[in-house]
Amino acid sequence: EVGEIAQGLGYKAYIVGGVVRDILLGKEVWDLDFVVEGDAIELAERLASRYKVKTHPFPEFGTAHLKVGTLKLEFATARRETYSRPGAYPKVERASLKEDLVRRDFTINAMAISVNPESFGTLIDYFGGVRDLKDKIIRVLHPVSFIEDPVRILRALRFAGRLGFKCSKSTERLLKQAVNLGLLEEAPTGRIMNEIRLALREDRILEILSLYRKFKVLEHIIKGFNWTQNLEDKLVSLKKVTDWHSLEFPSERIDYGWVFLMVILSTIKPDVSMKFLQDVSAPSWVRESMESLYTTLNIIKGNLQKAERNSEIYKLLKGVHLSLLLILMSCREVQDKVKLFLERLRFVKVPPEAVREMKERGLEGRELGEEIEKLKERLMDEEKSFIMERP
Ligand code: CTP
Repeated sequence: EVGEIAQGLGYKAYIVGGVVRDILLGKEVWDLDFVVEGDAIELAERLASRYKVKTHPFPEFGTAHLKVGTLKLEFATARRETYSRPGAYPKVERASLKEDLVRRDFTINAMAISVNPESFGTLIDYFGGVRDLKDKIIRVLHPVSFIEDPVRILRALRFAGRLGFKCSKSTERLLKQAVNLGLLEEAPTGRIMNEIRLALREDRILEILSLYRKFKVLEHIIKGFNWTQNLEDKLVSLKKVTDWHSLEFPSERIDYGWVFLMVILSTIKPDVSMKFLQDVSAPSWVRESMESLYTTLNIIKGNLQKAERNSEIYKLLKGVHLSLLLILMSCREVQDKVKLFLERLRFVKVPPEAVREMKERGLEGRELGEEIEKLKERLMDEEKSFIMERP
């Protein structure tokens, strides 16, 4: 359809970028990016009126996006970009598809598929993207790619981690150079943080973080940060815990990436860490949990190690945010106790008859609540099976 409209207008339209990569990898895609040799906004408006939906045009960028059902479509006029300084938002001029593609980051992200009727489905691969997809290689299109946009340093590692790819020899060399030149420090914080947020959403977060370690990028982004084997071990252990949690309690899933970040930040000073969370626009639960991590987590852990009765475990852990429970559970010393809490203790309920009886005795409000809690604790202590049943 897009192709027909483009044809009618005398334009050429192509699906481009990461979408093409994902299509070739056999993934489902819901966000389609188009590049138009011609007026992208006009094309988007024609399409929108056909489907009776709204367009959101950005004339200064020559782009427009719209939604058709569950599909999100983005149209951009083919453009050439010049960066005034590393990492800055680029200046834009009209150009051909090839010029539009050559300004992109990696070969696997710089392919296009024609959608005009006479050439519908034709893959356009000027830079060897197909070959690199096959060989599992991340390769920049030109030597100044990382200098033009240092965010690409992190993008390279994100794609490598996500897809299990490697950087080509020269890309790896250029990446290291860019890191050593301090380009990550020079790029606008907002864009770096945006990229960090994307990385934290990835399933293969652990692989990405170990590439971050290998190429020493976080040292340039988080002040005073240093990788240790101990931290890496903690992250590996946390990954096992979050995988377990997301399988056992799918309805309670949270954005686990933030929990990984919390563990990373726990190795540095609180003020730097809180500032980082602000820069990265972490949600309020992350900031609040991070505060408690510094103030109370070690105390809880110490008490938990000493705790023997179920009720003691319960009292220590109830009201603790899930993110902190997961972090605690990734510590071997208290793992079983946190697991017991998550699987059972927190679900212990007092029988309704008991509550009725308390009410009949005239208890209400806070008093009633306290009485219920006491009974709950007694029940979980009597129920020896809580601990006995553990495998
Ligand atoms: N791009 C680039 N340099 C950047 C960011 C993006 O060259 N710093 C180009 C790439 O061609 C990329 C496309 O813009 O494929 C779209 O960018 P984006 O939506 O951020 O990435 P995707 O490749 O679609 O990745 P993801 O799967 O994470 O959405």
